[in-house]
Amino acid sequence: MKVLVIGSGGREHALVQALAKEPGVTALYALPGNAGMKEALCLPGDPMDSPGVVATARAQGIQFCVVAPDDPLANGLVDALEEAGIPCFGPTRAAARIESSKVFSKKLMADFHIPTARWAAFDSPDPAREYALGQPYPLVIKADGLAKGKGVLIVQNAEQAQEALHSIFDGGLFGASGSRVVIEEYLEGPEVSVLALCDGQNLVPLPSAMDHKRALDDDQGLNTGGMGVIAPNPFYTPEIAERCMQQIFLPTVRAMQALGHPFRGCLFFGLMLTKDGPRVLEYNARFGDPETQAVLALVEGGLLTAMQHCRFGGLSAGDLRLKQGSACCVVMASGGYPGRFNTGYPITGRPEGVLLHYAGVKQQQDGLVTAGGRVLSLTATAPTLKQAIDRAYQATEQMHFEGAHYRRDIGRHALRAEGVT
Ligand code: AMP
Ligand code: GLY
Repeated sequence: MKVLVIGSGGREHALVQALAKEPGVTALYALPGNAGMKEALCLPGDPMDSPGVVATARAQGIQFCVVAPDDPLANGLVDALEEAGIPCFGPTRAAARIESSKVFSKKLMADFHIPTARWAAFDSPDPAREYALGQPYPLVIKADGLAKGKGVLIVQNAEQAQEALHSIFDGGLFGASGSRVVIEEYLEGPEVSVLALCDGQNLVPLPSAMDHKRALDDDQGLNTGGMGVIAPNPFYTPEIAERCMQQIFLPTVRAMQALGHPFRGCLFFGLMLTKDGPRVLEYNARFGDPETQAVLALVEGGLLTAMQHCRFGGLSAGDLRLKQGSACCVVMASGGYPGRFNTGYPITGRPEGVLLHYAGVKQQQDGLVTAGGRVLSLTATAPTLKQAIDRAYQATEQMHFEGAHYRRDIGRHALRAEGVT
């Protein structure tokens, strides 16, 4: 089968690498892909240009397409490919609203009794300001639409809330994504990411994960797309997993069915394990980046079958063969990311015994050079979390580019939860 993966980051490289091992895949393509993806043939194109992608997919005779990034999903790329007779892994535009509109997802959770932070939505500043005045602090203010992980502000007092609302409504802080905001209760507890495959009706969770979103060690610095991941997440016990399945995962799948938008693809649950039980922080309508790099490292096989069952029905836990043990993914970023950074530095090194996933890279005469914020990630698996972390960090010492920045504490908090340090 000829398979096409849409996207160009580390997540897509992990998908390409995992699909390349599947016996059912006879030819593998990425659009646009990146220069580090040696396992796929990269096709030029813009994922936001749905007619262009359809034309390219047709010309190549693509038989199955995996749409990974949020923007093309929200833009209806799956709908366009399906209309052209190309089956896809990924939600339709209507189903992708579970991520692309916080108001949609918050309403769904309220209507179907799915536990989440207390909230209210506003499309004009005055009622938002008034509401914020009456709330306990800290308080969370979010853009309604997609905002590349930068649409969340946590404010400590009423004055900061007023300033934030002013910047959003009057200063265009979130751009078009912020014409509507959600104001919600601040939740505390360990965060867990659960990526689950769905066929509209059945749901199969992959191993749980813990992302590290801040740029610097000890969760300091700015929010990023994610600087590293460990999986499985030791805070996510079997009891909590069962509770999430009954109170969150299955109700969400049923809600999407009831609303007439059955969810097919990867549904990502961003959860906070509060002292009152698990709560949904957000849904994503896609694989996470870099969660995918760590989670797929624990999948031994069956990914293509599982993805096809997501599209055609009949998904079951037996589709996937999972590996025992733990995974640790460390992202190496350009110095300065997520702020200003320089690019064009040569990348050298070939670490062994780990998975190497490229993201912000491009080809020059002598080899790959840096071309983005998150440049690459290294993922190790091992019988224990401690061993996986050690292996991933040994590998970082063998990769080089000028100004490389990575966190030194990926998994440290998780090890403490395991009682290892
Ligand atoms: P989101 O884009 O909704 O996932 O939010 C990004 C990050 O902001 C989350 O991973 C959390 O760390 C933090 N966050 C979002 N909502 C809340 C909340 N209600 N309480 C505390 N932290 C939050
Ligand atoms: N790592 C979080 C995300 O992909 O949104």
